[in-house]
Amino acid sequence: MQEKKSFHVPVLLKEVLEYLDPKPGQTVIDGTLGGGGHALALAKAIEPKGILVGIDLDPAALTEASAKAKDADIKTELHFVKGNYRDIKKIVNDLALSEVNAIIIDIGISSYDLEGSNRGFSFQKHEPLDMRFDPEARPAHKEKEPFTARFILNHYSEKDLKKTFEEYGEEKFSSRIVRGIIEHRQQQSIETTEDLFNIIKHSLPAAFRFKAGDSARRVFQALRIEVNKELENLEKFLPDAFEVLAKGGKLAVISFHSLEDRIVKHFFLEKAKGCICPPDFPQCVCGKEPLAKILTKKLVSASEEEQKENSRSIPAKLRVIQKI
Ligand SMILES: C[S@@+](CC[C@H](N)C(=O)[O-])C[C@H]1O[C@@H](n2cnc3c(N)ncnc32)[C@H](O)[C@@H]1O
Repeated sequence: MQEKKSFHVPVLLKEVLEYLDPKPGQTVIDGTLGGGGHALALAKAIEPKGILVGIDLDPAALTEASAKAKDADIKTELHFVKGNYRDIKKIVNDLALSEVNAIIIDIGISSYDLEGSNRGFSFQKHEPLDMRFDPEARPAHKEKEPFTARFILNHYSEKDLKKTFEEYGEEKFSSRIVRGIIEHRQQQSIETTEDLFNIIKHSLPAAFRFKAGDSARRVFQALRIEVNKELENLEKFLPDAFEVLAKGGKLAVISFHSLEDRIVKHFFLEKAKGCICPPDFPQCVCGKEPLAKILTKKLVSASEEEQKENSRSIPAKLRVIQKI
């Protein structure tokens, strides 16, 4: 019998539990529920009277986590919500949560997204170029089709495509690849991951074609970030999550690339900063007190053992802050 493929193996699980240190009766929010790996471990730790809220844009994640929760016989109050973690304030309000003790987001891509979703997240598959985390997201006002990777590739201007690949993919052959895209779409539209991979490969200088997978990985990442507005979501989420946390509450973020990590690091430093007087002032006149304590003094990465067992954990970085 064929073994069922795992939806997703949670990364840095032991470290997340250590830093968040959840206690029975607490309220915890997982903004990226996925297969429920982090959420259900946290839910167990806050039994029997705790509340666990799991948020995800993808209905498949909610179905998977609900089934796992049933099997695990969780005694915590569970709320699985289809939504965007950027709307955490509204979700907390709607559920009338009185106190939130810990929040986590794990902003990578799940194994299911890559291997089972059929939404074109991987250049190694032959799939339609969708890349939405929310497959039910409706077209924006006045548009006939939803905002997908396909839409971007066939409708964005040359300038906007180049900006997307440079900013979110840091791809040095962006100009050549964009030219390849524009030429291709003048003949026929770009529909599949295979179409895009071939365009990327043939746009590269001959000496770099054997490394086409590297450029493809960066371009696919850039498209995914743009389709899902990932950096905007994070920018909106951080201050709102901090606001809904109770005093002493903790906020953990697992990120997978430097653009996200930079946003998290700056936000955490800003919250942990006390006096902002110029350094040559003999004494503080601003009176500003830190609002938080950074718990991860050094960036936390997966152990060698975890990296060996699960290669998806290699780029993962954990940062945790505690509200004072
Ligand atoms: C890496 S997986 C999370 C895995 C999860 N921590 C686990 O242990 O199984 C990321 C998940 O976040 C979801 N997601 C991505 N962006 C989101 C957003 N802005 N709001 C809510 N969910 C989001 C994706 O659909 C995906 O299921």
